[in-house]
Parts: sequence; C-alpha cells; structure tokens
Amino acid sequence: MNRLLDLVRNPLANLTLAILPATRGFALKRALLNTLGFEIGVGAKLTGGVKFYGRGRIAIGEDSWIGLGTLFIVAPDAAIVIGARCDIAPRVIFHTGSHRVGDHRRRAGAGYSQPITIADGSWVGTGSVVLGGSCIGSASILAAGATLLAGDYPADTLLAGCPATIKRAL
Ligand SMILES: CC(C)(COP(=O)(O)OP(=O)(O)OC[C@H]1O[C@@H](n2cnc3c(N)ncnc32)[C@H](O)[C@@H]1OP(=O)(O)O)[C@@H](O)C(=O)NCCC(=O)NCCS
Repeated sequence: MNRLLDLVRNPLANLTLAILPATRGFALKRALLNTLGFEIGVGAKLTGGVKFYGRGRIAIGEDSWIGLGTLFIVAPDAAIVIGARCDIAPRVIFHTGSHRVGDHRRRAGAGYSQPITIADGSWVGTGSVVLGGSCIGSASILAAGATLLAGDYPADTLLAGCPATIKRAL
C-alpha cells in the first residue's frame, strides 16, 4: 500500500493542482494532498500548476501561499519544509538534489541530496532557485530571481542575487 501511495502521490497531486481553479478550492486541494501523504497545514493555499517530483517529505505550514507553477523536487532522503505564513511567489524552484563535481567524462558526478527549510513568515520572490542544504531564518525575504546556495541564513534578513547574499536587515 505504501509503495502504491509512493507511486501515485505526485501524479495525483500534480493533476489535482493542474485541473482545479488556480486560485480557488484550497480546502479541497489540502484535503486531497494530505490524504496522499503531504503535510499541508490549515489555511495553506496551493495555486495552479504547482508540481512535485521525488519521494521525500513535503511539509507546508499553516496559512502559507505557494505561487503559480512552483516546483518541488525532493529526494527520498531529504525534505522540503516551508513554515507557517510563508509566501512563495510564482515559479520558484526548490531542489534538494545535486551532484559532486565529476571527472572529465561526466561533470555531474555522484548524486546527493540535502533538505531545505524556509522558516515562518518568510517571502521567496518569483523565479528564485532554492538549492538543497539551504535554511532561511524566520521572516526573511529572498528577492526575485535569486539563487540560494546551501547555508544557514539569519532571520529578518533580505537576501538577493546569484548567488544570494545578505543585502540588509529587515
Ligand atoms: C526584495 C524586494 C521586495 C525589494 O525590497 P526592498 O526592501 O525595496 O529592497 P532594497 O531596495 O532595500 O534593496 C536592497 C538591495 O537588494 C538589491 N535587490 C533588491 N531586489 C533584488 C533582486 N530581485 N535581485 C537582485 N538584487 C536585488 C537592491 O539592488 C539593493 O542592493 P544594493 O544595496 O547593492 O543597492 C524586491 O526587489 C523583490 O525581489 N520582490 C519580489 C517580487 C516578487 O516576487 N513578486 C511576485 C509576487 S509575490
């Protein structure tokens, strides 16, 4: 049963989020996704075209917003945890996986994965890429178009750029 659920979890979630109205039906989306094994908090809103790939844990906290077309790629041995009252803008990419630098024959060497955590009250700007091993402290902002590398980033901080660096305290 668990294996079957593993197989259908993402396709059914992705289909649900593709066919239901983009910015409505949030309670139904939450109920369906929680039945499939996601951890979606009360009042969290997943909009149209959000997609999940991979078998790791996905938790989205209470009253958070996940913007149009955001992509979660989560390896089985990592997790993506979005806290409460977070706002994730459209077309953000969360990707827990990477590769060691390989040799001349193939630069994407051995694969590995690391978790991602976005703490309560944070805002992730549109088009950002959040890589495995990154942990954003509470009430911080990752500006639009940023690439966040692995690391622990403080609370109440504006991060921006590629790679994202601390711009100022909030
Ligand atoms: C971060 C943001 C909110 C601006 O906040 P702000 O407080 O006005 O930012 P500031 O003007 O104080 O900028 C501070 C520094 O960050 C830089 N910065 C701000 N946004 C940036 C971005 N998206 N990319 C690169 N640098 C950025 C500024 O150039 C400035 O750099 P400097 O100190 O070297 O001059 C805005 O730029 C942004 O990215 N918004 C997200 C929009 C979005 O995702 N919309 C979808 C709807 S949710």
